[in-house]
Amino acid sequence: MIRRLLVLTFALACCGCTRPPAAIGGSPELVYEQGAVAADHPLASQAGAEMLRRGGNAVDAAVAASFCLSVVDPFSCGIGGGGFMVVWDPATRRGFAHNYRETAPASMRPETFAELDDPLASRFGGLAVGVPGNVRGLLEALERWGTLDRATVLEPAIRHARDGFQVNAAYLSAVQWVRTMRDEHPGLQDVSQWVWDHLCGGGDLRIGDVLVQPGQADVLGRIADHGAAAFYEGPVADAIVRAVSTSGGDLTRADLSGYRTSTTDALRSTVVFDRYTLLSMPPPSSGGIAMQQMMRMIDMRLDDVPNPSPTNPAWVQLVVECMKHAFADRATHLADGTFHPVPVDRLLASEYLAERAGSIDLRRTGSPTDYGSSAPPPSDSGTSHISVVDADGMAVGCTETINLTFGSLLAVPEFGIVLNDELDDFTARPGKANAFGLRQSPGNAPAPGKRPLSSMSPTIVLEGDQVRLVAGASGGPRIITGTMQVILNCLLLEMTPAQAVSAARFHHQWLPDVLQFEQGWTADGVVDAMESIGHATGRRDSVGVVQVVEVLPDGRKRAASDPRKGGMPAGH
Ligand code: GLY
Repeated sequence: MIRRLLVLTFALACCGCTRPPAAIGGSPELVYEQGAVAADHPLASQAGAEMLRRGGNAVDAAVAASFCLSVVDPFSCGIGGGGFMVVWDPATRRGFAHNYRETAPASMRPETFAELDDPLASRFGGLAVGVPGNVRGLLEALERWGTLDRATVLEPAIRHARDGFQVNAAYLSAVQWVRTMRDEHPGLQDVSQWVWDHLCGGGDLRIGDVLVQPGQADVLGRIADHGAAAFYEGPVADAIVRAVSTSGGDLTRADLSGYRTSTTDALRSTVVFDRYTLLSMPPPSSGGIAMQQMMRMIDMRLDDVPNPSPTNPAWVQLVVECMKHAFADRATHLADGTFHPVPVDRLLASEYLAERAGSIDLRRTGSPTDYGSSAPPPSDSGTSHISVVDADGMAVGCTETINLTFGSLLAVPEFGIVLNDELDDFTARPGKANAFGLRQSPGNAPAPGKRPLSSMSPTIVLEGDQVRLVAGASGGPRIITGTMQVILNCLLLEMTPAQAVSAARFHHQWLPDVLQFEQGWTADGVVDAMESIGHATGRRDSVGVVQVVEVLPDGRKRAASDPRKGGMPAGH
């Protein structure tokens, strides 16, 4: 339901349209005395900050921000999707990896998609939908680490669903994508009709229009009153099952009621750059391992690049070669570790990384076979990241997704839940390209209860046992490379968070064998230098959308949301 306002509001001002040299948009420098939340929508950051002001902690803030994103960024993430949360608990000095990634329903077999002669089957409609994990994952996090009650953390989301929120430029880009899909694939019109009519205004949506979602207000209210059972059982579960089966999928009540999260210790790196430790997600995140591999290889070769800077071709070459090594391993070895053996220790062993780092030639790039033997990971636009640090030093990095923009394009009409298409993150058709022309390993084939490999990389950087920064991103495989560059910008290149997220970035994922620079990259000398040492180069709009919170030496928090998606941090 849409209300049109006559005035264009600040949503325009924060859409990040200007592009100063070598930077994408501008991000204000915001410093908070106590705690800070950086999400990719201002209302989500504000919902989190409201929890901090009420005495809640970082987990309360992240949970409130996430439920809010389900309403204000329904194309990016939400209660029809899943996610990862890395939590640093200063009281116990432990880092946790909370996994609420979607699972394949019991009906799913490794050959389900391969047998269908339809590459869209794993991307759109009922068959693409994984069992959503967000509601159970967020409520368990709240119960385990939070301090506020369900009604309090869900209140901002319910308010925005009931009273409406103004759509911004990022929202309109997502609408444009749905329009393109419907035009290019007329067979998707039925599947996407509810999303098109109710969340895209039938294509007639402008910046500043107010979107109201009574269905989400209803289901979020039920969750506030009755907890996860209100989603995984009863009328909401019935409606999800009906929507999926009407659209050709087979996701049952038992799949929903049987959904479980998993919580382990976070993947902890050895010390990098003499003083920092990374806390990351283990598999089925690929980003945790890739991030630690890249950071440690860069550290091992740092003496060879005395002046690290994005304008120094040797620095760019070092970072790019580390990306190529990590993405080759991603394609070959990574999957859901509970279903397929993932050699985590071997991939992170010092001898292994030292051998690979030592093989990097700063004057020449290699061919793909020098790095690995398989193919690269998927991409996405339906993802969102929240970074939070509170006054007591508790930190949360939380990345959530429904996979592609507006997920499967299928919604649960009674409750306005946009359902994910996470099953396309599996190796759905062996040897065949996925949504983005990419291939992955056989270990990542679909199976009942299995979670698809993910690029989501929520990361907490510790200095000793104090949080130094929290970062993460949306953007498919660019999550990994974008997040890493922002962390390097802050830790090594002495940029503030606002400078770090605004700086133009580059991306290499091993295959396709192309080094991509963002459109805003203006250091042409670097592009020429990369071409002269053997790289094929290209341009792309963005390399991830990164949100970061940094803790200053005096304990204040400095936060930045990426201007690429119009976010804005909040705090107190
Ligand atoms: N669906 C995107 C990811 O998890 O990598």
